[in-house]
Amino acid sequence: MKTLIIYMSTHGCTKQVVTELAEQLNGEVTIKNLKEDKNPDFQNYDRVIIGGSIHAGQIQRKIREYCEAHLENLGRKQLGLFICCMYEGDQAFQQLENAFPEKLHQYAKSEAILGGEFNFEKMRFFEKLIVRKIAKVEQSVSKIDHEAIKNFAKKMDKTFSPFVTLI
Ligand SMILES: Cc1cc2nc3c(=O)[nH]c(=O)nc-3n(C[C@H](O)[C@H](O)[C@H](O)COP(=O)(O)O)c2cc1C
Repeated sequence: MKTLIIYMSTHGCTKQVVTELAEQLNGEVTIKNLKEDKNPDFQNYDRVIIGGSIHAGQIQRKIREYCEAHLENLGRKQLGLFICCMYEGDQAFQQLENAFPEKLHQYAKSEAILGGEFNFEKMRFFEKLIVRKIAKVEQSVSKIDHEAIKNFAKKMDKTFSPFVTLI
């Protein structure tokens, strides 16, 4: 079983999450950062997992554009979608809904919200201002949801069992 994970990361958190996710998936896993490889080919993969992080309510534009450009072909794969973000609950769920085209949500076998982090060392001046003002956070903090990563990997592995033999 071959899996391709396509992602974007603004400050490195999603990259970290993708590495952790890849370690937990069965089979061969390839990782592509859309920043470096602008149009990765997924034809030779059984599964495709796509994710990015949320900034000002939006996933990276290139992730969205890639999804829209490959909508129908992605529907032919075992598809997983995820976001990294700092909101939780309904707000996070809403962001996940908005991050991907409606059709991809219908195709997806599994979707997940995998937490996030505020990393002040990586933020630019205005980003720090925004985070301080809106999130009221003054220092770096990590809320990567390791349990959610584990569950997402498990669900993706479970969905890749098309034939169940009953004796
Ligand atoms: C300027 C800025 C804006 C952000 N806006 C949101 C937001 O609208 N909703 C949210 O849930 N998280 C928001 N976050 C938190 C990011 O989603 C979080 O930092 C995430 O882990 C970033 O992942 P990355 O390092 O892979 O880009 C924001 C973070 C920054 C620095």
